[in-house]
Amino acid sequence: MSELSTRLIHHPYRPPAGFDAVAPGVHKASTVIFANVQALRTQEWKDKSGYTYGLHGTPTSFTLEERIATIEGGRFCVLAPSGLSAISLVDMAFLRQGDEVLLPDNAYGPGKAFAQVELKAWGIAHRYYDPLDPADLAAKITPATRLVWLEAPGSITLEFPDLPALTAVVRAANAGRARPILSALDNTWGAGLAFNGFDLGADVVMQALTKYPSGGADVLMGSVVTRDPDLHQQLLLTHMRLGLGVGANDAELVLRGLPSLALRYAAQDASTRALAEWMQRQAGVVRVLHPALPDSPGHAAWQRDARAAACLFSAVFDERFTQAQIDAFCDSLRLFRLGWSWAGPISLCAPYDVTAIRSVTRWPHRGGLVRFAVGLESVDDLREDLNQALQALNARA
Ligand SMILES: Cc1ncc(COP(=O)(O)O)c(C=O)c1O
Repeated sequence: MSELSTRLIHHPYRPPAGFDAVAPGVHKASTVIFANVQALRTQEWKDKSGYTYGLHGTPTSFTLEERIATIEGGRFCVLAPSGLSAISLVDMAFLRQGDEVLLPDNAYGPGKAFAQVELKAWGIAHRYYDPLDPADLAAKITPATRLVWLEAPGSITLEFPDLPALTAVVRAANAGRARPILSALDNTWGAGLAFNGFDLGADVVMQALTKYPSGGADVLMGSVVTRDPDLHQQLLLTHMRLGLGVGANDAELVLRGLPSLALRYAAQDASTRALAEWMQRQAGVVRVLHPALPDSPGHAAWQRDARAAACLFSAVFDERFTQAQIDAFCDSLRLFRLGWSWAGPISLCAPYDVTAIRSVTRWPHRGGLVRFAVGLESVDDLREDLNQALQALNARA
């Protein structure tokens, strides 16, 4: 070991003694060294009391998995490189050729696209159901149904479904079935704080950690949490075969966001409700969608099942405004920036054509819709921003 290059590489690593820092360390690895061949042969990659290879986990990713499982009220967690990859992981772990998956009509769009293109090419069918009608879900279930996705609420149109009723439909359909139907909840909106997805009947709870847990609008990650060890094992095997590891620096960014998660959620909730209530009194706005508003679809289910609400609301504008005028309204906002995602520090907005993304439910409005994601800015400044843009819109029409 005379060469410096060799001595630098083989220099023994000593964790700093007495360094009881508040933040967990960032442990990065592809390779993990085994003490001997016996250990290399016998260390089981699924056993999270030890380490085998970076793809199968590091102390940093295991710490994040444990914390997300705790937040969701589950027992096991796997991490994926984005929320969308967490959705596709659930699909790929539980669906096989000849199976069918049911999606709520207002589901997150790229998850629908995965079913429409990739799952279809693998011989897996999909159908949509009305998330506000448990009887429609019951009618859509066939012997081929294997997975039912749930989303509470839809992230653009904010209808809050009756989760206990929908999961009860799945449980009732499972009586006497050899391969039970699983229910998987996209819990990105609730973030594990607004309600407990397992207590409302879901078997699998996924989340885009990209949104609230990170909170910084600077990292992409997803999680899939389960209570049932067999479901976790299936997810873990598919996750391993797909090679879906997450980087330690990204895991650390999410870990840094967790201590402020509940405070951010509450602050954004309060600002969003204030703005949604104000918005529905403004000229040119015909409807505001937010589960806490009494006339918003699914309000009663939200009131019964949820403790809080996330940072999203949508406004439907009077049909006299053209799409170009609504686009100009979005362009004229100064604090609400144009961009995808939500739950970061910066408020965002985006116009949507809802009719184009509906399959089995009728969208009752003719005017354009804008979705707002409220950030951490002063609510007075945000209201003022909306006000100046609304005045300009009304003056133009
Ligand atoms: C409800 C919902 N689920 C999943 C995702 C996907 O998350 P990601 O952007 O990390 O892939 C999003 C992102 O917008 C979302 O809004």
